[in-house]
Amino acid sequence: MTSPFRGRFGRRGALGYFAAFAVAGLAVSPAWAGPQAQLTVQYDRPLHAVSPTLYGLMTEEINHSYDGGLYAELIRDRVFFRRQARQFVKIWTVDQNAEDGISISIDNRTGPSRALPYSLKLTAAQAGPRDPGGIDNPGYWGVPVWPNTTYHASIYLKSEPGARNPGPVTMAIVSDSGKVLGSAVFPAATSQWKKYTATIHTGRVRESMDNFVRIAVSHPGSVLLNVPSLFPPTYKNQPNGFRIDLMRRLAALHPKYLRFPGGNFLEGKTLADWYDWKLTIGPIVDRPTHPSPWGYESSDGLGLLEFLEWCHDLHMQPVLAVYAGYALDGMHIRPGPQLQPYVKDALEEIQYITGPTTTKWGAVRARDGHPAPFALHYVEIGNEDFFDRSGSYSGSNGRFAQFARAIRKAYPHLKIIATMPVKGDVQPNLIDLHFYRTAQQFLHQTHYFDHMSRKGPKIMVGEWATMQGTPTPDFGAALSDAAWMTGLERNSDLVVMASYAPLLVNVNPLAAQWGTNLIGYNALHSYGSPSYYAQVMFSDYLGNQVVASQLSGAGPLCFESVTRDAATHTLYVKIVNAAPRPQSLNLHIEGGAVAHRGILVTLHAGSTYSTNTITDPDRIVPHTESVDWLGSDVHHTFAPYSINVMKLHVH
Ligand code: AHR
Repeated sequence: MTSPFRGRFGRRGALGYFAAFAVAGLAVSPAWAGPQAQLTVQYDRPLHAVSPTLYGLMTEEINHSYDGGLYAELIRDRVFFRRQARQFVKIWTVDQNAEDGISISIDNRTGPSRALPYSLKLTAAQAGPRDPGGIDNPGYWGVPVWPNTTYHASIYLKSEPGARNPGPVTMAIVSDSGKVLGSAVFPAATSQWKKYTATIHTGRVRESMDNFVRIAVSHPGSVLLNVPSLFPPTYKNQPNGFRIDLMRRLAALHPKYLRFPGGNFLEGKTLADWYDWKLTIGPIVDRPTHPSPWGYESSDGLGLLEFLEWCHDLHMQPVLAVYAGYALDGMHIRPGPQLQPYVKDALEEIQYITGPTTTKWGAVRARDGHPAPFALHYVEIGNEDFFDRSGSYSGSNGRFAQFARAIRKAYPHLKIIATMPVKGDVQPNLIDLHFYRTAQQFLHQTHYFDHMSRKGPKIMVGEWATMQGTPTPDFGAALSDAAWMTGLERNSDLVVMASYAPLLVNVNPLAAQWGTNLIGYNALHSYGSPSYYAQVMFSDYLGNQVVASQLSGAGPLCFESVTRDAATHTLYVKIVNAAPRPQSLNLHIEGGAVAHRGILVTLHAGSTYSTNTITDPDRIVPHTESVDWLGSDVHHTFAPYSINVMKLHVH
């Protein structure tokens, strides 16, 4: 064992040490470092396992998370018409070339499916091959174009009885300056609804997003159309799939579960707007769309099966939230016979996910292209039902109990999550608690779970975030998020799941409804916020057992979590220094372990207001250096405003 302060800095030596004081170009004197803290770690005293499901994802259709986000479809409002509002979607415009004499109308008599029993009638009075005319779609604040890229286009067409057929229909990606960057031609419509597919290949064009999609005809006449669709390359080339850059960013978080489909998106604004999963499966032409409570229509192109495929792609377990009869306007469905159809629906949803193909809904899943059942261990009943002031959820014969009894009877192995404490004998396995806080509040709540009873249900922190920074958290938020996470890790015998929310935001100001969100993007690019990188660090270096540790002599804004992986002889020490001055610390390892090499990963910024943006995406990113700390005492001075992980190999 070496004595205190004899730990050595390795390859970077003293340089690395002094670099720790260089903040925003300002050399900070070590004298500022304040009193030396001591972190004593008892390597041989594991307290409990780190929950293997600790860090997961929570998502819903908010901020154009799916439409205009993760779901790679480029055409916005591809079904033209909102049935509930009986309104044409104004996002589409008629191409401005008066020569073509283009007009459009909604045809309520015919559509390509039962779900979409209407269509758009496109009429060209005098279009010609050199002067095609049609309708334009701006995409989700632009249409991304990359050079030499193949896009998959499709559309449903039908000829208009008794009218002249305008012949082939073109879909083109056109720059705002009018240049065609790629196009595809679909054959002339026939008298029956039919889906046509084609590819668009861009050539030597420049990467851009100031583009739109035009659907046009080159001869006079009328044609009926619906569900035009255009996909760029998707993650793992899946049809109807996900945006590649966003999936990679999510994969880097190593999430263990996905909580879906909400959030408020599960509930809907009114009882009519509930998340009716059966309307989100099958071919996209069979999905009628529905209003998201966040003020726009959800295409439901990312529907129940896509959520499950998303889980499969990122090796996450699904945490399925089932609709439980409460709407955001405060109305609820009374427990008892009126609620029973929804209970049945939830049971069928579980069967769709887990049932063999010999079951009714397992067979439907197979029809939808996924014969293999998905593993499901967690079902959440409702969302934030503490808002239901009537108490209809939590009573011993309330909505929760009615769902939980039926689900437990049919699927006894499932763990059931309640959204608030409930009365009576039907108790949940977990309770979902949500924490949206200021930075100050989180910095003061890192011990929130330390003394909570371990006798009741486990806890899922299904939504949490420091609300600071728009559209994504700033570094001050990242510091308090990281401080909060040290508390989650230390208490992960009780808090077995935790997911930041909201996860995604399209940064166009018209796209977002929520202030602070983890990952930002526009049509072309994406970026991780400082808090995103803090979460990547925490999940990259998690360990599997919390070990006993004691921090003394540190400033009030210094937070720690210590874990280990005994099989690989690794100790993980996380230190969050949320103070504006350096924190000098001696790590004293007891229990016969001695550090012999490792890495130090640091995320830091010069001010709490520093942040990453869509135009400056890498301003704050983690830096990794190897260290050659030797002995049972190692000393380091942590930079002001810094989030740090020491990964030490011990023997
Ligand atoms: O994350 C945004 C919203 O916050 C969720 O939809 C809801 O559950 C919570 O109130």
